[in-house]
Amino acid sequence: MNRRDLILQELGLLPKWVRREAAVSIRGDVATILEETASHDAEAFEPPVFEAGRDQRAPVAAEIAARAVDSDRAAQIARFDWTQLQNAVTGCTACALHATRKQTVFGVGAEQADWLFIGEGPGAEEDARGEPFVGQAGKLLDNMLAAIGLKRGHDVYIANIVKCRPPGNRQPEPVEATQCEPYLARQIQLLQPKLVIALGRTAAANLLRNDASIGSLRGRLHSLQGIPLIVTYHPAYLLRTLGDKAKAWEDLCFARETMQRLKGAQTAQS
Ligand code: URA
Repeated sequence: MNRRDLILQELGLLPKWVRREAAVSIRGDVATILEETASHDAEAFEPPVFEAGRDQRAPVAAEIAARAVDSDRAAQIARFDWTQLQNAVTGCTACALHATRKQTVFGVGAEQADWLFIGEGPGAEEDARGEPFVGQAGKLLDNMLAAIGLKRGHDVYIANIVKCRPPGNRQPEPVEATQCEPYLARQIQLLQPKLVIALGRTAAANLLRNDASIGSLRGRLHSLQGIPLIVTYHPAYLLRTLGDKAKAWEDLCFARETMQRLKGAQTAQS
């Protein structure tokens, strides 16, 4: 078995693997990339439920827009360095989640990472250990990273929409995501990643401010305030829906190709 097949087997993709042609042709800079991909039609399919036992409704755009934002607090957080930010998160009581958490889950990885993966929120194991994606879903995420030559902590940063565990692993409420948003926004500012990967519908809905299905969001580049963003399935969903691992693999290949092109475009400009 060749190396690729070994990786696919590791990811549980065999024998379902069908390589799709690169979704887009990317030439120049990020603007060109986004322009070229804006009209790309994603493969039409509706994924089944995201995660057993969770409310599947992503917050709709109007609901997100209507959330109250304390701009003074956000402005203060936007000036923090990494240490100040970490301390602020550790002591945060801005929403009700602080009352039930064991500890906050700030994020993990290289502070100069080109890759930023964003999930939904900590589960029980993450709450206990203080690190994102350390449970079963985290093991799959690590395998997904390895499949495209990445490793947690090396050029990769992993964070969540919310830093405290929602009780019972429910979806974060809009108000909870809103209170946490300035922390993630500052992490992104400090990191300046080249590419963001939104893991699952909750991450995508909060980052992109829409409630579209994963099926309509994956397979093309989005923009998170100018940073290219790709949407794929949440690893916890993939653990339950093995048939969609092949689509996640397509997304990872698309992400890897996009990163290569982003780096190529940067090299050409310098
Ligand atoms: N699911 C997430 O979205 N994030 C984690 O950190 C763990 C599980």
